[in-house]
Amino acid sequence: MDKGLVDPFGRTISYLRVSVTDRCDLRCFYCMPEAFNNYEVPDNWLTFAEIERVVNAFSALGVSRVRLTGGEPLVRQGVPELAGRLSAIAGINDLSLSTNANRLAREAQALKQAGVKRLNVSLDSLQAKRFQLISKGKLEKVMAGLMAAREAGFRPIKINMVVMQGINDDEVLDMVEFCLTHGFTLRFIETMPVGHTGRNACDSHYISLQTVKAQLAEHYNLLPSIVDGGGPAQYFTIGDTGLKIGFITPISQHFCATCNRVRLGVDGRLYLCLGHENSVALRPLLRAGISDEALQMTLRKALWLKPREHTFNDCNTQVLRFMSMTGG
Ligand code: GTP
Ligand code: 5AD
Ligand code: SF4
Repeated sequence: MDKGLVDPFGRTISYLRVSVTDRCDLRCFYCMPEAFNNYEVPDNWLTFAEIERVVNAFSALGVSRVRLTGGEPLVRQGVPELAGRLSAIAGINDLSLSTNANRLAREAQALKQAGVKRLNVSLDSLQAKRFQLISKGKLEKVMAGLMAAREAGFRPIKINMVVMQGINDDEVLDMVEFCLTHGFTLRFIETMPVGHTGRNACDSHYISLQTVKAQLAEHYNLLPSIVDGGGPAQYFTIGDTGLKIGFITPISQHFCATCNRVRLGVDGRLYLCLGHENSVALRPLLRAGISDEALQMTLRKALWLKPREHTFNDCNTQVLRFMSMTGG
């Protein structure tokens, strides 16, 4: 039998996003409602051994990239230990983590030693007051986390900025300058209507990155470029500065035709698409002692449920789970 995981539309799955928790220590308004506390109970979290087992099965089927996400992954105890176990799996050669950097100052070194290769860090504003309004967090803590990550030797560090009209769209050029100064890669992201928080944020603050790109092109020479990673960003280098900027445009120019990923929720549910509810519950199978062969067959069959594309542009359909349940 062919080794690779191929979906009904001929796309090969090589990238698994693993959410290690649905909790977060910030509250970005487009991601999780302020009063939300309906978290998954710890008994239902996949254990590190169970996550390792699922990643092993994916690796046997040709997945080589794994990204740890949350909520905020560093809220869960022992993530560096998990990272060490996953990076030791033969075939996993790109282990990365998406974080809000709030706890990164104390974890950066351990994550690096555990074999995490790349970090993506959310940062929507460089203004302390505004950062607090968007996320309820303290900018200085996130900055300390970012600098610690740089010290620990992570390259590239990608900054994720969700650009929102009337919220932070006036900071695009400031963010370019900031990333130039510190040697970070910068990605702009369009808001996606995931969960009703996302739907509201998207309805009122959505801005097409085509507009942002046109504004940037007035200031800088944008040259098509490539950056290490397996995600959907389209990259450019700014003139001769060496600064790379990426555009993640799920709404204005989606990238579903080249989708290469699936997502594992903290409860062991395998989500086939960020924009749909289709999923397969792996936890009951793992806890009932499923064999390696049967687990791999389950993953292969799960791919039959992978939709062709999201329907974010159709206002009548809605993904009800919050973004924090799959970590983007
Ligand atoms: P690398 O390219 O490996 O560095 O990672 P990435 O950009 O895929 O990961 P990250 O967690 O930094 O995600 C950045 C943004 O892209 C987030 O807003 C994600 O929700 C979004 N994103 C990532 N993968 C997908 C996808 O398959 N579909 C959609 N619609 N959005 C995605
Ligand atoms: N739309 C777009 N991006 C989002 N993220 C969280 N919620 C949304 C949303 N509704 C981003 C975070 C983080 C990344 C993993 O996903 O800002 O950088
Ligand atoms: Fe893949 Fe779904 Fe994301 Fe499209 S929205 S790129 S199909 S996960």
